[in-house]
Amino acid sequence: MATPWWQSAVIYQVYPRSFADADGDGVGDLEGLRRHLGHLVWLGVDAIWLSPIYRSPMTDFGYDVSDHCDVDPVFGSLDDAERLVAEAHAAGLKVLLDWVPNHTSDQHPWFVESRAGRDSARRSWYVWRDGRDGAPPNNWRAAFTGELRWELDPSTGERRPRAVAAETEVDPSAWTFDPASRQWYLHLFLASQPDLDWNEPAVVEAQLEVLRFWLDRGVDGFRADVIHAIGKDPALPDDPPELALLPKSSTNDEPRTHELLRRIRALLDGYPGERVLVGEVYLLDTARVATYYGDGDELHLAFNFPPLYTRWRARDWRRQVETVVEQVGAAGGWPTWVLSNHDNPRHRTRYGTGGRARAAAVLLLGLRGTPFLYAGEELGLEDAEVPPGERLDPGGRDGCRAPVPWTEGEGHGWDGGRTWLPFPPDAGARSVEAQREDPGSFLHLYRRLLAARRGSTALSVGDLDLVSGPDDPAVLAWTRTAGDDRRAVAVNFTAEEREVDLRGDWVVEVSSDGVGEGSRWPGRLGPDQAVVLRPA
Ligand code: GLC
Repeated sequence: MATPWWQSAVIYQVYPRSFADADGDGVGDLEGLRRHLGHLVWLGVDAIWLSPIYRSPMTDFGYDVSDHCDVDPVFGSLDDAERLVAEAHAAGLKVLLDWVPNHTSDQHPWFVESRAGRDSARRSWYVWRDGRDGAPPNNWRAAFTGELRWELDPSTGERRPRAVAAETEVDPSAWTFDPASRQWYLHLFLASQPDLDWNEPAVVEAQLEVLRFWLDRGVDGFRADVIHAIGKDPALPDDPPELALLPKSSTNDEPRTHELLRRIRALLDGYPGERVLVGEVYLLDTARVATYYGDGDELHLAFNFPPLYTRWRARDWRRQVETVVEQVGAAGGWPTWVLSNHDNPRHRTRYGTGGRARAAAVLLLGLRGTPFLYAGEELGLEDAEVPPGERLDPGGRDGCRAPVPWTEGEGHGWDGGRTWLPFPPDAGARSVEAQREDPGSFLHLYRRLLAARRGSTALSVGDLDLVSGPDDPAVLAWTRTAGDDRRAVAVNFTAEEREVDLRGDWVVEVSSDGVGEGSRWPGRLGPDQAVVLRPA
């Protein structure tokens, strides 16, 4: 069975500012990353995805691109990028870049020209409209204009999201008025991130050219930022009142995006070597997300975020797994799974305990689909506490972007003094250096899980069958099968010991708490324990 590399792969997200720093300015860079490729090879991941490294004024830390074909000096140079790709390839790692198609920085020459006046040759590259009696052209809402607060639920110890009004007075509109030309421009994110108009053929061509620029330099694919947002209804109708309170970037779902995706996909497929397009489809509805796989001619992989917002409860997770099987799998799409990224509190912080975070690692790496790890999750990092005066991100996401601690002692391998954000809690004890010495660490657990996936076709690409009953509030268990190869995975979502009937004799291959590995499985899970089992 020949499967494309990205189906059996584990993809590791690097947030370049926070990964590793070579020049001592307290901000991570490409040379820092290059020097730590060995860590990723030792860990056993297959590919890295880099959050944006392009030239940027950094109002959204790189998701505001001012030159798609150059590297921001804070990260290094184009030569550094080429060297990184070459060395990653030599080490057996694929490299994916972030591609930000929906918007640019307001400092991008395209927008500077577009803004120059109503008759600018690039006016049509962005979405400019007249207002309605001094008010914005429609009622669309921008992102980051309310906050998602992750509040502790004392009954479960978990953090749950709650939408609250922003602390400071912000204009919720996705439109900003340009006094010089007396028109408004659209931005689904910050006012410094104007939306490109993908109804303009020259924009499509220019963005495809960006893809070619990097594909020609050997990158293995892209993670496409808010890809579901690029196609917009040119009539720009008001949203119905019930949707108008949500950011438009979480609801835009237009047929024309699919047409565009087919063109983008055809471009990637025209290159040799299975280049991959992973789309961020930030629609919190798996059935809608599934449509972005098209007929096998749109995204290769689509992020599906509902599981990330799911409670740590067996029943809730069972529903998520079933929904993915039904909606994504049945449509012929290959699923993805992600617990942490640069936009949300880390899952250890959300779930509240190290025991649960370890069990979650087994869950993530035992499901059917491509798992994405977020740098530092293999260390069991929690979010940093960032004091109010030091917060930098307009979207309140600083905590999960704290620097990765490499060494135990002061500086944690970031030797230039102050880092751009504070380190996460217990940085010394949770550093790579400290955990490599400890076979019982998070780091070794992830490494064993990755080795188990690599060693078993069933675990990496096999079919999934749920075993535990739909009403089991404690345990979620399933088998994975590919031909004669079989594995079972069982996750205890509670802090009490639980019996599980898995029929047959099993040996514990990996266990989240290290207990029992290599021994006959007793048919019982310890508190917060999750296991990967192989037939005895
Ligand atoms: C995506 C990115 C996020 C960014 C936004 C705007 O959601 O993951 O970090 O702020 O797009 O580009």
